[in-house]
Amino acid sequence: MAAVHPVIAAHAARVRAVDPLAGGQVGLPAPGPNEGAIEVADAVGLTSVDRLDPGTMNATWSPLVVHRLWGRVGGRDPEAALGALLDRWLAGLSGERGPDKALAVQWPSRDTAAVRALTMRGFAPMVVTAARPSGAVRSGLPAAVGRVRMRAATQADTGDVARLYEALVAYDAQFGWVTMRPSTRNGIAESLGSLMHDSWCWVAEVDGVVAGIVMVEPPQRARWVASAVTTSPIAYLSAMYADPAVRGQGVGAAMVAVAHAHLDASGVATTVLHHAVPNPLSAPFWARQGYRPVLTQWVRHLPPG
Ligand SMILES: CC(C)(COP(=O)(O)OP(=O)(O)OC[C@H]1O[C@@H](n2cnc3c(N)ncnc32)[C@H](O)[C@@H]1OP(=O)(O)O)[C@@H](O)C(=O)NCCC(=O)NCCS
Repeated sequence: MAAVHPVIAAHAARVRAVDPLAGGQVGLPAPGPNEGAIEVADAVGLTSVDRLDPGTMNATWSPLVVHRLWGRVGGRDPEAALGALLDRWLAGLSGERGPDKALAVQWPSRDTAAVRALTMRGFAPMVVTAARPSGAVRSGLPAAVGRVRMRAATQADTGDVARLYEALVAYDAQFGWVTMRPSTRNGIAESLGSLMHDSWCWVAEVDGVVAGIVMVEPPQRARWVASAVTTSPIAYLSAMYADPAVRGQGVGAAMVAVAHAHLDASGVATTVLHHAVPNPLSAPFWARQGYRPVLTQWVRHLPPG
């Protein structure tokens, strides 16, 4: 077995000490065709670039071009080590201009020792991967009763689910990472059939009208995000939306209660989701529902050109 690079071993030990749940810190994959390795004192990194076709649904979730750095730092001064790694990476990108291009660095949320290096170079936390261990008790939000009926979504709900899903994308797009593109509406319509078929999906009816959705990818579909945490099996909560007219009355809490009961009964160890850090509704909502940040994506848009 190949020896683990000492920087990677130090990084993994530091992260494990502050957050045993944060996954994916043990190694770095070998560079692929679009990727490069960089190394400075006490830091190693892998760089990659995503170039998305604007006609695809993936282009909704980020800018069209995203340069990524996957870093590992050790030594006595993690901030200085990450700073040097970032400077080496950024020097190689100095000619890059936007629009619709950005930089992204994912970092374990609780490993705060190094992150000042990101802030000082203009990066801001944009998206967290948050996790809820199975059975985590929420802090006692009242669940809506009476006018609200929760039920499993059927194919007959596809139109309502598409409408609410599109509203969710539009809400998230306000924060400047998710983007509502000309192709987004079609993309949702085309992908929703298989997404609903492969997911656990519930709707909330309020006075007989579908006013909320929650969708969860079960473990076999959520493998793509399984390395975010060290526990398994995981499920991925991919969408959650309540119509503005019914917010603040416990509809969201009722939807999550149904989803969590199913997840806990299904043997899922951890449920994972993404939310925008600046989202003033979802960030406190998820914290009260037992979720907390595990990985934080720090981003910086490139100047338009
Ligand atoms: C996040 C979201 C789904 C929550 O749905 P919701 O139905 O408003 O959620 P709840 O009503 O259960 O809880 C929200 C608030 O209402 C309060 N509340 C809950 N039940 C209540 C009741 N019976 N009476 C009065 N207030 C109540 C909660 O305490 C909570 O308080 P807050 O406003 O201080 O946060 C909703 O805000 C939304 O769709 N946001 C936009 C899209 C989004 O951010 N989705 C998540 C992306 S990851």
